[in-house]
Amino acid sequence: MSQHETPLFDGLLRHAERNPVQFHIPGHKKGSGMDPVFKEFIGENALSIDLINIAPLDDLHQPHGIIKEAQQLAAEAFGADHTFFSVQGTSGAIMTMIMAVCGPGEKIIVPRNVHKSIMTAIVFSGAVPIFIHPEIDKDLGISHGITTESVTRALTEHPDAKGLLVINPTYFGIAGDLKQIVDIAHSFNVPVLVDEAHGVHIHFHEDLPISAMQAGADMAATSVHKLGGSMTQSSILNVREGLVSVNRVQTILSMLTTTSTSYILLASLDTARRHLAINGHQIIEQTLKHAQETRKKINEIDHLYCVGEEILGSKATYDYDPTKLIVSVKNLGISGHDAEKWLRDRYNIEVELSDLYNILCIITPGDTKEDCELLVKALTEMAASFKGTVQSRYAHVMLPDIPLLALSPREAFYSETETVPLDESAGRIMAEFMMVYPPGIPIFIPGEIITEENLRYVKENVAAGLPVQGPEDEELKTLRVIRERKPIY
Ligand SMILES: Cc1ncc(COP(=O)(O)O)c(C=O)c1O
Repeated sequence: MSQHETPLFDGLLRHAERNPVQFHIPGHKKGSGMDPVFKEFIGENALSIDLINIAPLDDLHQPHGIIKEAQQLAAEAFGADHTFFSVQGTSGAIMTMIMAVCGPGEKIIVPRNVHKSIMTAIVFSGAVPIFIHPEIDKDLGISHGITTESVTRALTEHPDAKGLLVINPTYFGIAGDLKQIVDIAHSFNVPVLVDEAHGVHIHFHEDLPISAMQAGADMAATSVHKLGGSMTQSSILNVREGLVSVNRVQTILSMLTTTSTSYILLASLDTARRHLAINGHQIIEQTLKHAQETRKKINEIDHLYCVGEEILGSKATYDYDPTKLIVSVKNLGISGHDAEKWLRDRYNIEVELSDLYNILCIITPGDTKEDCELLVKALTEMAASFKGTVQSRYAHVMLPDIPLLALSPREAFYSETETVPLDESAGRIMAEFMMVYPPGIPIFIPGEIITEENLRYVKENVAAGLPVQGPEDEELKTLRVIRERKPIY
């Protein structure tokens, strides 16, 4: 088969054209049995392929037909031995990677600044996390990836680890020396699992960091939906044979996946792969041009700084993705959240994320020169309107510390717990997750000892209007902690 073909999408179209009389779910039956307003809005085309795994359409759980062909084409396009489609986002693919290599009590080496799906998989599997401290960027107030030195140290101390997880590139587009990291891990016979949620496109252009499969990693969970043009929730899991069992990966992915897999999502993966394989290089070339021009113009605006290649050269900043525009606004005396709100209210612009010090804007093949110019215009006006009030509230960058782990995350998650006021929780063992989302990197995970410093960081984020999530008590007045047994007098 050639990369020009889309066996899954074509199979669905052929099926829809035959227009069979359906005595199966989904009960809306091509839209006839649903709310007419939604039907009109979503359209007949989409509804005609909103189908499930009847025999002619193959089955994601045990593919032998059009899904298998589509996955094989994807494997070829991404340089993998096998590709599995995920309809549960990269979160589902990440949980599969971890649970495929780690069982209860087994070690996995992970950077601490990971997405919550990784910590969730650690709780589900009962694995013991060995944390690597990511490199902290004190100027920007963000954390980058891990260094080759820290990987060597972690593997030397824990050669019995069942896997090493690497984020490549980070949400902010920064990549470590992945090839070297993979070579080090392989010298210990340890498989490398890559969280490639923000890197589907990097495989298709030589001016972007190398992809997990190019670096020789064993598995990569890749969000096609984020930057590769498929529909939200659709991702892939790329696997290289050797250190991991492909059959176990398929079994675990199936255990974690709905039996009602959306064919709209699956077809969008098939077509996104075709588009990337055939046109990827050319459209990314154009995207890079837009992003670099925009970066240059943002850097001409007083008090704003858009990160560029000068960030490279530290041990964890080996390469970067120029399509990510990290704009530091702290020298304007406002928070990233203030900037996000200002852009929304004044220019109807929505950014990818904001934190205390930055906003992140992503440029993709979906953006035009005009969109980029509007962003520059808006930022110019924003900088001018805050110029008079520049003060140093955000000049001192604050980042959460990595708390000590007293219990394994699974032990803590299933322990007897109690709630205590947030202000009295320092020193107690956390039983919940707590993070700012996006980016969804935990401030506390179950099993960690709560620190005053991280509580201050939480309060700072809440005060800045940023979304701190995780605890049962959404108002964050109380936290769930491990129950302490008091002596009986
Ligand atoms: C670094 C990272 N990993 C994994 C994920 C999970 O991806 P998904 O939303 O496709 O489940 C995200 C989502 O934001 C992420 O930022």
